[in-house]
Amino acid sequence: MNGNLSSDDFILFQKYIEEQCGISIRDDKAYLIESRLSKFLVKFSLESFEELYQMLSQQKNKALAEDVIDALTTNETLWFREKTPWEFMTETLLERYIQEIRQGKRFRVRIWSAACSTGQEPYSIAMCIDTYLERHGIKDITLGHFEILATDISSTVLQMAKRGKYDSISMARGLDPSYRDRYFRQEGRTWALDEKIKNAVQFVQFNLQKSFSNFGKFDLVFCRYVAIYFSESFKKEIFKKISFSLVQDGILILGNSEVFFDYKEDYDVKQYKNTVFYRVRGGKG
Ligand SMILES: C[S@@+](CC[C@H](N)C(=O)[O-])C[C@H]1O[C@@H](n2cnc3c(N)ncnc32)[C@H](O)[C@@H]1O
Repeated sequence: MNGNLSSDDFILFQKYIEEQCGISIRDDKAYLIESRLSKFLVKFSLESFEELYQMLSQQKNKALAEDVIDALTTNETLWFREKTPWEFMTETLLERYIQEIRQGKRFRVRIWSAACSTGQEPYSIAMCIDTYLERHGIKDITLGHFEILATDISSTVLQMAKRGKYDSISMARGLDPSYRDRYFRQEGRTWALDEKIKNAVQFVQFNLQKSFSNFGKFDLVFCRYVAIYFSESFKKEIFKKISFSLVQDGILILGNSEVFFDYKEDYDVKQYKNTVFYRVRGGKG
């Protein structure tokens, strides 16, 4: 077996991955392909990366294609990732949404976690809302007024997210013990999420390269730490598509350390503490 990735192989895989999921692997990151995909050479007793590419390009083996994308995506996530988006939600957005429901301006609030990985982001959204309602003694509005859609390209992470069970290492990453005690039950080595929070989130497998039109309009979109892996042109395309998926004044939140320069046609950029957020311009679509 020749487990080395030649420059020709690299170009084939680089193109394949960008076509399949938009992830752009720079030339100096060729080692990622070699290190993350060499297990498939062993698994299928293949002689070279070229043979693996041939298997993939025959398009018969959907499971292999998914496994390859899984191996190359970064699923790093944590609970309540960065403090300020959650402060933005609790200190401004939720109050506004609740008032608007009470005034009959809206029936519900729709939120999309567009690259949800193993579920920490959408479940943090649900816990954040539930805790807010409880802390403010709000009884007329419930978690049921908030529809949370969570999508990801990877079926593996979605399966884990839907289970709602986390090991101690994941639990320790960003989750305040007060949330843990309130929303999780310890079952041996794992922690099981409360059914109320689990049921508040709908998970759907979805590739951001596809059209968003079937999802309808959202008030708030979290598209955090996924576009950093995409080319500038794909990033621009996604944020444009999101602008059409937002209601008037709808908001897009990226990761605090993500920068998106090409927003002016579609968004006004605002800041709340360290969180830069993008408010869609006018009513689109
Ligand atoms: C680093 S995680 C970010 C998770 C979460 N948003 C956060 O900030 O903690 C990136 C996720 O994007 C997903 N992803 C990558 N390419 C995608 C695509 N084309 N469509 C949908 N999801 C994608 C990966 O599977 C991965 O779970």
